[in-house]
Amino acid sequence: MENSELIKKINQLKKQKNAVILVHNYQRKEIYEIADFIGDSLDLAKKAANTDAETIVFCGVDFMAETAKILSPKSKVLLPSKDASCPMAQMITVEKLRKLKQLHPEAAVVSYVNTNADIKAESTACCTSMNAIEIVNKLPNEKIIFIPDIHLGEWVKNHTNKEIILCNGFCFVHSKILLEQAKKAKQIHPEAMLVAHPESPIEVLELADHVTGTGGMIRYAKENSAKEFIIATEEGMVNRLIKEVPDKKFYAIGGVCFNMKKTTLEKVFESLEKEQYEIIIDEEIAKKARKALDKMIELS
Ligand code: 13P
Ligand code: SF4
Repeated sequence: MENSELIKKINQLKKQKNAVILVHNYQRKEIYEIADFIGDSLDLAKKAANTDAETIVFCGVDFMAETAKILSPKSKVLLPSKDASCPMAQMITVEKLRKLKQLHPEAAVVSYVNTNADIKAESTACCTSMNAIEIVNKLPNEKIIFIPDIHLGEWVKNHTNKEIILCNGFCFVHSKILLEQAKKAKQIHPEAMLVAHPESPIEVLELADHVTGTGGMIRYAKENSAKEFIIATEEGMVNRLIKEVPDKKFYAIGGVCFNMKKTTLEKVFESLEKEQYEIIIDEEIAKKARKALDKMIELS
């Protein structure tokens, strides 16, 4: 089927089934066309918390769809590509986290949303790339166990007086963005601002003109007087920036998140038609995880 035909059919099914389609910024360009809302993980979580749609089709990766289910338990949440998962979320286990908690009983646990529901259930508060520093600074504890991303954790550590216990998780895409590459891009485009996602290595973050999550990148590109930007994050973000800020230039220096690209128009159509793949979370875990997500929303 042609893309235009698929888009038409998806829109019809969406209406019939009282569904909303939430789309992360890193999705394929054509997925933007069927979105009710496109955003970063914080804005998407907030949208999910406030929807009264019967069904949420989440075009992103598994932890994002799980977050939507936890925040909107009455909605049926569907992930069109069953194996669209974020490897970083597998880099911390409940067992490891419990050991850290035993070692640091006075610490609060701040877990990046890129975690599974059972990890959120063991956390004091969640955070995203947009609010990590704010959440850490607003919690009353002087010691914070920050999981699982080491790069975001180091960035937070540089912006707080609190003691931060780090973990060794990372993103395969962002951790490959190297300082040399960022410096070279700055040489080639001397007028451009370097904007980096905080999942990137600390040397890249220290060189950057601005460090922010994907939603913040759009706001920065709109508000900053510069006309060119070097974008240190997943490559697809540049498509989103071109769509939102068409009069400026963007140069990607990040690779592709293959998990994000597993969602296609065909899969979204099938997902709506067959109501697959439904996110199911154990009720007790979901209740506890909700507290950590609510704490994040309350503090940010
Ligand atoms: P954002 O919250 O900035 O959209 O980031 C999500 C993510 O997975 C980055 O790799
Ligand atoms: Fe996970 Fe990295 Fe992909 Fe984000 S870009 S979803 S952190 S693998």
